[in-house]
Amino acid sequence: MKTRPLKNYKGSIGCEVYDIDLATANQDEIMELGKLVEDQCNVFINQKVTPRRHYEIQTSWGQPSRALLHNYVVDKRVKGTHWRNLLANLGYVAREIHNTDTDLDMSPGMSQVSFRKDAKGRPTGIFANGTLNWHSDQCALDEAPRLNGLSSLHDSAGSRTDFLQTHDAFMELSSDMQSMIKELKVKHTWRPMGIAKDLSDAQQELTRYNMVSLDGQETPLYSETASGRPGIKFPSYTFNGFVGMSDAESWKIHSMLSQAIYNPDYIYQHDWQDGQVMYFDQSICLHRRPTNIVDGDQRTMTRIVTFMDKLYENAGPRDYVLWNGQKLTHNEFAVLVDADRKAAYEISKN
Ligand SMILES: [Fe+2]
Repeated sequence: MKTRPLKNYKGSIGCEVYDIDLATANQDEIMELGKLVEDQCNVFINQKVTPRRHYEIQTSWGQPSRALLHNYVVDKRVKGTHWRNLLANLGYVAREIHNTDTDLDMSPGMSQVSFRKDAKGRPTGIFANGTLNWHSDQCALDEAPRLNGLSSLHDSAGSRTDFLQTHDAFMELSSDMQSMIKELKVKHTWRPMGIAKDLSDAQQELTRYNMVSLDGQETPLYSETASGRPGIKFPSYTFNGFVGMSDAESWKIHSMLSQAIYNPDYIYQHDWQDGQVMYFDQSICLHRRPTNIVDGDQRTMTRIVTFMDKLYENAGPRDYVLWNGQKLTHNEFAVLVDADRKAAYEISKN
C-alpha cells in the first residue's frame, strides 16, 4: 500500500494512502488498509466514497459503535418520557442518510454531520453552528480503540478539521512522566458549553449522551491503539481531576501535559474538498473543527464509528463502565443514568 506524508505536518504517524481504489479494492486490500489506519491513526484518502461503501469498508474492520446511552435508548435498556427526546433526535440525525442512499438502514455507528435544519427547525445533523473544541468521541468511556471515518459529501470546501495525535508527545516525555501517566485515572464531568457554544437543546442532549452520560465516569489516562502504539487518552473540556489527587495538583499536571500535547507539529490541519475520506483514531487522538459554521452552511459529511475487533482481538466494546471508583455492569450503570436523567427531567418540567 503506497503512502505519502500529510501536507504541512511533521508528526511521526499519520499519512495519505494514494494507490487504493476504495470502490473496487478487494477484501485483502481493505484489511491491509484497516491495519495501516489503526497504526497510523490519522489517514487521508483523496477519494469519493458512497455512504454504503464507506459503511461496508469500515464495518469489515470492526463492529459499529454507537454512543453508550444512544444504544441504551435504542435497545430500550432505559425508557420513559424522560428519554423520548433523545430517541427522536437520534432518528432525525440519521434521516438524511436514508435520503442519500435509500437502501441503507439507520445503521448503528453511522450519522450525518451537517448543519441544516428541517422545516420545523430541528437539526438534521449532530452539531450546530460555531466551532468545535478539541475532543475525542465517547471520551468518558474506558473502551477499546475506536475509529471514526468522515467522508465529505458536498459543500465541504472552505471548512477544516484538525487532527492531533498524542503518540509523539508521549514518547518525548521522561520515563517518570510516562510511568505516572500509566497510573492515573481521569474523572470526567459534562460541561454544557465545553464542546460548542451554540448547541440547540436537542444537540446538547445528543452530545451529552455521546460524551459524559453521568458525572464521575472514569478513564485511564494511558491508552494505546489496537496495534500497540502508545499514547494518551487526553481529556479536554470534560476533565474534572485525577482520581485520588487534589484539584490543584490535577490541573497542574493537566496543564503540563496540555503544553506537550497541543504541539503544532503533531496537528494535521485538513482543508476539506468534496469526495474525501479521513480515518481517525479515538484512543490516543483528538480532533476539533476550527471552522466557524454559520446559518445556511450546507457542508455535509457521513460519519461512521467502529471498533476494530475484526482485525484485532480484544478491540471490541467493553462489558463494564468505570464510575466513581467502581466497575459497573451496563445494567448497573443504566439504572444510575436513568435516575439522573429522570431527576433532571422532573426539574425541567416544573
Ligand atoms: Fe467528534
